[in-house]
Parts: sequence; C-alpha cells; structure tokens
Amino acid sequence: MNSEVRVHGRDFTAYRIGGAIAAVLLAILLGWQIWEIFDGDNRTVPEVRWGVAALDGEATAGDQSGLLAHEVLRARTRLQDERYRSGPAPASDAPDFATGAAQWLTNAPMERGAGRDLTRGWARPGSDTLELLRGSERVAGISSLPYVGAEVFERPFGRDWRLGIADFATHLGALAILGFSLLLALVLALRGRVPIAKGRSGRTVKRFGFLERANHWMTALSFIGLALTGLVIAYGDTVIRPFSEPLLGDLGWLATWGHVLFFPPFALGILFMILRWTWGNLPGRYDARWLARGGGFFSDSPDNPPARKFNAGQKLIFWSAALGGVIMVVSGVTLMFPFYWLDIEGMSWAMLTHAVIAVLLIAIFIGHIYIGTVGMQGAIEAMWGGRVDRNWAEEHHELWLAEIEGRTPTQERSG
Ligand code: HEM
Repeated sequence: MNSEVRVHGRDFTAYRIGGAIAAVLLAILLGWQIWEIFDGDNRTVPEVRWGVAALDGEATAGDQSGLLAHEVLRARTRLQDERYRSGPAPASDAPDFATGAAQWLTNAPMERGAGRDLTRGWARPGSDTLELLRGSERVAGISSLPYVGAEVFERPFGRDWRLGIADFATHLGALAILGFSLLLALVLALRGRVPIAKGRSGRTVKRFGFLERANHWMTALSFIGLALTGLVIAYGDTVIRPFSEPLLGDLGWLATWGHVLFFPPFALGILFMILRWTWGNLPGRYDARWLARGGGFFSDSPDNPPARKFNAGQKLIFWSAALGGVIMVVSGVTLMFPFYWLDIEGMSWAMLTHAVIAVLLIAIFIGHIYIGTVGMQGAIEAMWGGRVDRNWAEEHHELWLAEIEGRTPTQERSG
C-alpha cells in the first residue's frame, strides 16, 4: 500500500466509526432475534390448552381463553344444530358468555330478516370455499356445523405452510437481513471505505444515460417502498404491536395499500432493466478471475481484476434483480388474485415463495446499496449524474474504459 493510498484511506475514518457503531447496534438486534428463535415461544403451537381445565374444574388465568373457546364452540354447535332442525333457538338457550365482570359477547337486535339472510349466506358454500378445498390432502371427520368444509379437521400441508411462514420465512428473513447488515457494518469498520486509490483525476467519463438512471431510481424507490411496506406486513405484529396497537393499525393500513401501489413502477422498472442491461450482464471470460480475486475489494491497490462495463459482482446483482424481480412480480400478482389460477396448495407455495425471495432480495440489495453509497468512493456518481471519474473507471472497469476510449484490448492484463 503506497503512502498516497494510505492518505486517501485515512480520509474515511468517520465511515469506519459509523460502521463500528452500526455494527454494535446490529449485533444487539441480531442477538435479540437469535434469542427469539430459542425462547420456546413458538407461535405455530397453540399456546392455550382448552377443555381440560373445564373438566378438572381448576381454571387458571392462562386457561381462560381456552375455557371460553370450549364453551363457545359447544354452545354454538348446540345452537346451530337446533336452529338447523327447528328454526330459531329459544332465547333461553342463548349461552351466557360473560366470565367475571367482562362481557365477552353481546347481543344486539337485528333488523327483520337480516339474521336469516346472514345465516343463509354463511351456510351456503360459496365457489371460493369449494375452490379453496379442491384437491388438497386433508383429514376429515364428522361435524354438526351446517356448512361445507366444517368436517375438514386439518390439512397437513396447511401445518407445513404455517411453519414455513411463521417460523422459517420470518426467522430466515430477520437473520439474513440483520446478519448481512452486521457483516457490512463490520466490513466498513475494519476494511474502511474503498477509495479511488489514485485519487480523483479531475476528468470524467459518461457511464449511464438519462433513461437508464431514471429507470434505476424508479425501480430502486419502488423496491424500497415494497420492502418497507412488506416488512410492516410481515413483522408488524412482532415488532410494532408491543409498542402501540393503533400505530400498527395505521401503518398496517398504509402498508397494505402502499405495497400494491409500489408494484406497477417496480414491475415496469425491472422489465426495462432486463431489456437494457441483459446483454452487458451475460457471463464472460473475466468473471471467474474477478470472483476468484474478490474483485480486489480487500486491498486499496488500484490494481483490481479487469472488468468490462459490468463486473461479476454487478452481474450477480443484475441477475438477482432480474430473476428475483420476476419471481416477486409473478407470485405477487398471484397473491393479488387468490384462487384464480391456483388451488390452496398453489396459493400456499406462492405465499412462501414471495416471502422467502423477498427477504433474500432485501438482504442482497442492502449489499448493493452499501457498495453504491458508503462502501465505495465515486460509485454513486455513476447513477446520479451519469459520469464517473476516469481513475475510478480505470480501477474498476479497465476494459470498459479502453472500449469507450477506442483503445485496443492489448491493455488487457493477465491479472
Ligand atoms: C438507495 C438505493 C440504491 C442505490 C444507492 C443504488 C446505487 C447504484 C449505483 C451507484 C449503480 C451503478 C454502479 C456502476 O457504476 O456500475 C447501480 C447499478 C444498478 N442498480 Fe442500484 N442502487 C440502489 C437500489 C437498487 C435497487 C433497489 C435495484 C433493483 C431492484 C437496483 C438495481 C441495480 C442494477 C441492476 C444495477 C446495474 C448492475 C450493477 O451495477 O450492479 N439498485 N446502483
């Protein structure tokens, strides 16, 4: 490392300090997340047993809701069975759901006929109900409840799905996002910002046109919008509810609408990126060498492995955006129109795929945003003004610079 490089590296001490502080905060969050996994609070297992206390006659505070559920279910079954056979049940049969001073359920008079319409509508199998249950493996029994599907006790795949969504996808997401961010913060703290090793040349070269940049920022902003709203949808219950339920209500409402509204510009942006950048991102002969040397990332030497317009790292980013984006759009549209072309098993897979790919993409793009901003001096200028310093271009995209300056590939190094 020559002295000039050291001077440039030292300019970025503030970045290292920022990285160290971020690393400490992220380590705390990651620790909390890991503790969450192992604290035995598994939401896919019912937390309240029911019925037993009613038989034992020793209800504890934790059994209350189970007791109530048991009572409600028994009374409702009796009531419905009665109503099914003989019309409206006598008023005396209405169960008293009040436990202690709390009134759990209240009765209110209905307009004439409204109750009958409601019951009829509820009891008649809708096409959705039938579609929902079509073709999936299930465990069925006998039920006195007068509606289609009441006899389905369990769909084994439903259990797998619930485990996938509530455990696998959410924990994987938290670990991937927090873990990867922690790694980047450590890299910033220990390795520091990648400088333009030879310093700025004062001359610039054009890298991206206006349309490319406008499209990149449209895609980027809508991706960030989708990510934030998606995270509220996925983690709001765990992260926001404990602080404020009304806040979760407001944010949840905004997030559900925002998520749908950010989708069209994202889909359009990904489509344009695919059309514009696929050619430059096809695998090439320099990629393996670039990857083997880690892109020269860990040294401040200007002597990085040669690359054309997009190096292997950027190609990986491009293909994540292109393939990941298409998967997100297709599974997202599927979720917007439930049961149009998939049955319940297909819908479950669409949801799982959407969740898992989403969290992986968020983690990957945190890396992209890092290297495009704080991680590397001079990178953001490519997407902002469209021009980069010539020394930056030479250090990171030597072959591309030779191409646009009309020099011959004799400049290619074996490195
Ligand atoms: C704040 C957010 C973001 C920043 C600061 C940012 C920054 C940048 C920069 C500086 C470049 C040019 C690198 C070069 O000169 O080669 C770039 C390229 C690119 N960006 Fe972003 N970006 C952001 C978000 C996104 C998002 C969300 C996506 C896709 C969903 C995306 C997809 C791409 C692609 C495909 C390229 C071209 C390949 C590459 O250079 O890696 N970017 N971005």
